[in-house]
Amino acid sequence: MSGHGDPIPMTARRAGPLTGVAEVPGDKSISHRSLILGALSVGETRISGLLEGQDVLDTAKAMRAFGAEVTHHGAGEWTVNGVGVGGFAEPEDVIDCGNSGTGVRLIMGAMATSPITATFTGDASLRGRPMGRITDPIALFGAQSHGRQGGRLPMTIVGAADPVPVRYTVPMPSAQVKSAVLLAGLNAPGQTVVIEKEATRDHTERMLAGFGAEITVEETDEGRVITLTGQPELTPQTIVVPRDPSSAAFPVCAALIVEGSDVLVPNIGLNPTRAGLFTTLQEMGADLTFENPREEGGEPVADLRARFSPDMKGIEVPPERAPSMIDEYPILSVVACFAAGQTIMRGVKELRVKESDRIDAMARGLEANGARIEEDEDTLIVHGMGPGGLPGGAVAQARLDHRIAMSFLCAGMAAQQPVSVDDAGPIATSFPIFEPLMETLGAQLQRTKA
Ligand code: S3P
Repeated sequence: MSGHGDPIPMTARRAGPLTGVAEVPGDKSISHRSLILGALSVGETRISGLLEGQDVLDTAKAMRAFGAEVTHHGAGEWTVNGVGVGGFAEPEDVIDCGNSGTGVRLIMGAMATSPITATFTGDASLRGRPMGRITDPIALFGAQSHGRQGGRLPMTIVGAADPVPVRYTVPMPSAQVKSAVLLAGLNAPGQTVVIEKEATRDHTERMLAGFGAEITVEETDEGRVITLTGQPELTPQTIVVPRDPSSAAFPVCAALIVEGSDVLVPNIGLNPTRAGLFTTLQEMGADLTFENPREEGGEPVADLRARFSPDMKGIEVPPERAPSMIDEYPILSVVACFAAGQTIMRGVKELRVKESDRIDAMARGLEANGARIEEDEDTLIVHGMGPGGLPGGAVAQARLDHRIAMSFLCAGMAAQQPVSVDDAGPIATSFPIFEPLMETLGAQLQRTKA
């Protein structure tokens, strides 16, 4: 879908306040994992609240290609009849993961320890992203990979016929890499150990335990040491996917910067490895309240209320918080434009290898819209202009990146002049109802001519 259809140019302009209830879609990370772990179980996994964005639909299709029966029963309701650990069949055709780094990296890990060969590709954004971070560790299990220069897709993985377990320290903070190694470890005999120096989102660990795998996590001087016992029989689960905090970030942040707004986002996942943005916003002086905190399906959830916050101040975001808000820096840099003073984001170089180089995409688009930005390889600094301060008036390039497109549209809801994106199409990868949902809250979005 993204990158394949005609571009959808879109413009957001300042309108009335944003008010009401924002029912954002299911969590993307948990949705991918539900399908993959369901496919690796024996029997029927039931999923409700699955994100039906293109990224996750591409993973569903891939799981079918590896032999699982994946059935859609109605809005968010899915079942997966799995083939069991080690039961993947060899796909007959190329696996196209579209725009999804999470999809392709987790699936490469999951098939790397089976005696099958699979070829992976994706859209122009995904074909530009580094896969060496996956092919390095899966080689230790005995898998081979043959890709383009720089470890890029398309790429063929020849799974290990006699996999050995590994001990692997993840070299960059990446939940995708950690998860790929754990999924590969599922079909290796003995114990696979993954060490991460900085904690990243832990849905894979939580869900593996839920599916009955033997997995332990220890906090040590080396970091988080995760030990998985290979070749378990995973038992199918009933999964209720919480709403995605990374999607909630858009209506929440838009409410903070649009005068008079008051928005409630019910039932959002607040796993501490994902909630760094909300801590940061509160430190900036945002009016956020968490109502009805509770636990659902092993994940903490709450209803989040956000109100217009005219007194926000720029802060320095602690670099150690980056993994818990890595997807939220684009929208934070928009909020920062409407705060007083500088917001300094350090330790963010992983943003350069997301769906786009997100530091460059935000810096260029915000500058075009009148903001003053400083950046280096690992840092983004936004000079705030206070409530209503961003001039706007320009077109930003979305670069096949859903979060860049949504960030600039939120900027346009509060800027002096409208803000446009050249292509809102990629939004469908993670938040297919963004446009109607924001319009129901009171936003003015318009599909414009290229
Ligand atoms: C994800 C991990 C993060 C994040 C991505 C989803 C996951 O990527 O940016 O949107 O579900 O594991 P990295 O592992 O590259 O940091």
